[in-house]
Amino acid sequence: MHPSDRPKFTYLGHSTVLCTLHDGRTILIDPWVQNNPSCPEDLKALDRVDAVLITHGHADHMGDALAILEEHEPECVVATYEICGWLGNRGVENCCPMNIGGTQDVLGLRVTQVQALHTSSIEDEGRLIYGGVPTGYIVTLPDGWAFYHAGDTALFSDMQLLADLYRPHLAFLPIGDLFTMDPHQAALACKFLEVREVVPIHWGTFPVLTGTPSDLERELSDEGVNCKVVTLQPGQSY
Ligand code: NI
Ligand code: MN
Repeated sequence: MHPSDRPKFTYLGHSTVLCTLHDGRTILIDPWVQNNPSCPEDLKALDRVDAVLITHGHADHMGDALAILEEHEPECVVATYEICGWLGNRGVENCCPMNIGGTQDVLGLRVTQVQALHTSSIEDEGRLIYGGVPTGYIVTLPDGWAFYHAGDTALFSDMQLLADLYRPHLAFLPIGDLFTMDPHQAALACKFLEVREVVPIHWGTFPVLTGTPSDLERELSDEGVNCKVVTLQPGQSY
């Protein structure tokens, strides 16, 4: 595939990524925008949102879901059965529930929900509601080019299966530590996934997230993993 045919990825900070397809349609992964302290002010008003993928229920991933879904009414909102149920009860009509291992068509792309080693609950008026299992997504373009958004996860060795099954070229991997992988685990994840490029996410938003992209570069080099770190500051596109 010609590189220019890939989606344009705009990093909105933390784990939120806006994918703009060739025809201008967009997929928003993890709708935490207006209340995301990392998101640049001029990007908080989204032009269009045609589909949304939600990795898990935590507020730093879907805290602005209801507002964004109400404003943009995307064609398809992909999340676990449980999160979709919660959204549906709040008036969201276009949910496309799924569960890990499954694949569905979203805007002409193949979206596969995969496991994550984390937790998932939805904050609802001070209570924590079960959000199903935490997930990540493999998104495969019609010509087979694929990328992986890991959501929040620790390292798990079955990432090797994701390499066998989907051959992702690019991965968005959390590196901040404390709630997710640290840079050393993320370097091993790059090895397991056999990805050529990695975009660090879930870092720098809060002081407790201590892992940095330069740590990841060092760990990749120490592990002898040939993978390019594509560091995006919030607001930057790739
Ligand atoms: Ni989380
Ligand atoms: Mn998180």
